[in-house]
Amino acid sequence: SMLRSLARRTSTAGTRRGFASESAPDRKVAILGAAGGIGQPLSLLMKLNPLVSRLALYDIAGTPGVAADVSHINTRSEILGYAGEEQLGKALEGADVVIIPAGVPRKPGMTRDDLFNINAGIVKSLCTAIAKYCPHALVNVISNPVNSTVPIASEVFKKAGTYDEKRLFGVTTLDVVRAKTFYAGKAKVNVADVIVPVVGGHAGVTILPLFSQATPSANLSSEEIEALTKRTQDGGTEVVEAKAGKGSATLSMAYAGAIFADACLKGLNGVPDVVECSFVQSTVTDLPFFASKVRLGKNGVEEVLGLGALSDYEKEGLEALKPELKSSIEKGIKFAHA
Ligand code: NAI
Repeated sequence: SMLRSLARRTSTAGTRRGFASESAPDRKVAILGAAGGIGQPLSLLMKLNPLVSRLALYDIAGTPGVAADVSHINTRSEILGYAGEEQLGKALEGADVVIIPAGVPRKPGMTRDDLFNINAGIVKSLCTAIAKYCPHALVNVISNPVNSTVPIASEVFKKAGTYDEKRLFGVTTLDVVRAKTFYAGKAKVNVADVIVPVVGGHAGVTILPLFSQATPSANLSSEEIEALTKRTQDGGTEVVEAKAGKGSATLSMAYAGAIFADACLKGLNGVPDVVECSFVQSTVTDLPFFASKVRLGKNGVEEVLGLGALSDYEKEGLEALKPELKSSIEKGIKFAHA
């Protein structure tokens, strides 16, 4: 039936208008916060993705310039630029995938609560518009704190009556990207071959890379595994400190966001066995949201995969992360109801 549905999709795509060379179905992607530090390189990378036929770039300001610039690149997608809240509906209409890197990154002198309140409000208002204009889109939330903004999004969608847990994702791909890079360096294996699941959440100790399952396997000492785990958990801080007040990870995040959106598009298009880690509604643990491997399909989440065998160190890490992750989830839900 997978083959039959692929054939059906291909023939549908063939009858659609577009470039003669086009073989993939029409797919609209919207980026909310497209003029920002993440948004701009993410817009570039999504313009390079041949699975995208229309790319809507939305921000409160600055998107006409970004859109004009990116639109000159000779790849498949048509670029649509939108600026200001009154254009948000147009940006979202017909979107298959919405990527949200809108918000403020952490800056010196800012408390976590300052960041939470600003970004939580932004995500809440953007998700209210998504529920109205593209309730069936797959939503990729990048805005931090992801451990709270994803529960906020779910509550907004529930209130609007559009919630589908299969279509809401917290983007944790940067943790996976970092874990792969750091592991390859230590294990002295080809980085392109490395697979490492990263589970839990997306902040500090809630990030739990499962190096015991990493392939190609290597005989790393427990000290080395511990150092790799800490470096993956603190990867964001490494960048914030190196940028010295000029923001947080943007280029590596744009790469990670593009990888995850590509996986969502492949799933929608019926490509089999598309698996990425993501922070989703989950029954893998007793927490309502949890990051783990997810199989992506034509409706978004096809299957939330379990954790597999854990080392003792990972079992300890799992128990240790639960209280913080639980309280971040609850904080998001509380905010959404306030
Ligand atoms: P930035 O400040 O450079 O860009 C943010 C953009 O969002 C700006 O262009 C701003 O105009 C826009 N924006 C603000 N309010 C908006 C609204 N209501 N609607 C649409 N756009 C709006 O920040 P940067 O560095 O791009 O980071 C963005 C977010 O991504 C932050 O919350 C940051 O913490 C998060 N982040 C997440 C990561 C992850 O792994 N999930 C990694 C790195 C950052």
